Amino acid sequence: MREKNKRKKIIVANWKMNPVTLKEARALFLSIKKETKKLHRVETIICPPFLYLIELSKISQRGRLVLGAQDSFWKEDGPYTGEISPLMLSQIGVGAVILGHSERRSQGEDDRVVNCKVKTALKRGLRVILCVGENKRDEDGKYFSFIADEIKASLVGVSRRFVKQLIIAYEPIWAVGPKATQVDTPEDTVEMVIFIRKILNELFGKSIAMEMPILYGGSSNPKNAEGFLRDGGVSGLLVGRASRDSKKFKDILEIANQVESP
Ligand code: PGA
Repeated sequence: MREKNKRKKIIVANWKMNPVTLKEARALFLSIKKETKKLHRVETIICPPFLYLIELSKISQRGRLVLGAQDSFWKEDGPYTGEISPLMLSQIGVGAVILGHSERRSQGEDDRVVNCKVKTALKRGLRVILCVGENKRDEDGKYFSFIADEIKASLVGVSRRFVKQLIIAYEPIWAVGPKATQVDTPEDTVEMVIFIRKILNELFGKSIAMEMPILYGGSSNPKNAEGFLRDGGVSGLLVGRASRDSKKFKDILEIANQVESP
């Protein structure tokens, strides 16, 4: 337990399809980069659109600020129009990738595809932020088995030697994006984190299950960040909207730097 608390918090920025100019992307990136220099207890992963990655990799700094992608394909190269491979990403200094985001799953990406993408990205040495989350929360608690199935299907055949590169992001779909109807509570999140660790225990054994970082995502902002980080049992946050507002995102980073988990 003590060991776990010593670990840095992980804060991931998912810029989605924003901003629309490289100039804005550079400015946002540089302002966050400046902030991360002051933070010793946080690891920041910024995931801009593909188009900006090369340019931003030139000004990113190893160590505290990691550059991430929002997706990657399940093959290294070949006749796959419009796709980007983990090999291409790793060659330009990208260290992480978000996979299985609900906004991609809603466009038809299923667990099988996510699973192939996870395995290829891990083999290429990328850290994988695997998103899971239910559509709705039914009173009978069926969403727990949905999450269990989603995790198991997304991680089929993942070798234990790569699991250190894995991060799970629990993002209840009803809490994600501008159409979110609600935000989760730290009390419910902590319950889900315990449940996810139980599933990970079944898959990979206890020590891996206890060590794997689990993030919360869905309408997180400077007002609710402390609650999730202190009482939600999570290792960090996956931030969408608030990550594109440099003031709000820096506030979240500072909160993460200060907060003590129990
Ligand atoms: P949100 O997005 O913070 O805007 O709800 C989170 C995400 O999609 O990862």
